Amino acid sequence: MPVQYKEVTAENLEWITVATTSDLPNGARRIVEIDGQPIAVFNIANQYFAIADVCSHDDGPVAEGELVDDYEIECPRHGAHFDVRTGQVLSFPAIVDIPAYKVRVEDGEVQVAFPVEE
Ligand code: FES
Repeated sequence: MPVQYKEVTAENLEWITVATTSDLPNGARRIVEIDGQPIAVFNIANQYFAIADVCSHDDGPVAEGELVDDYEIECPRHGAHFDVRTGQVLSFPAIVDIPAYKVRVEDGEVQVAFPVEE
């Protein structure tokens, strides 16, 4: 069954620690599960980004793909491209954006703003 990502609203976010900064050095990525949903967290040029690790085309593990440009990742299943900063779809065969999440660093912890049950 496909993963159902919750809608992000201003009211339902909780900061979830997913790594320490030393776990996630420049150029690293980490795939974690939050609330049963796979989320990929990237450190690109010492900025952190998080996207859902489920391709909007056919549920492929998009975050396991190659970064083909600074912020552009290619889904390993059929080659759709997404912007890891925003989740925006950039090329076919996907036509729908994937969720992207805000990331912050607090006391050396990398935290993702994730929607929780209200
Ligand atoms: S599952 Fe990602 S491009 Fe098809």
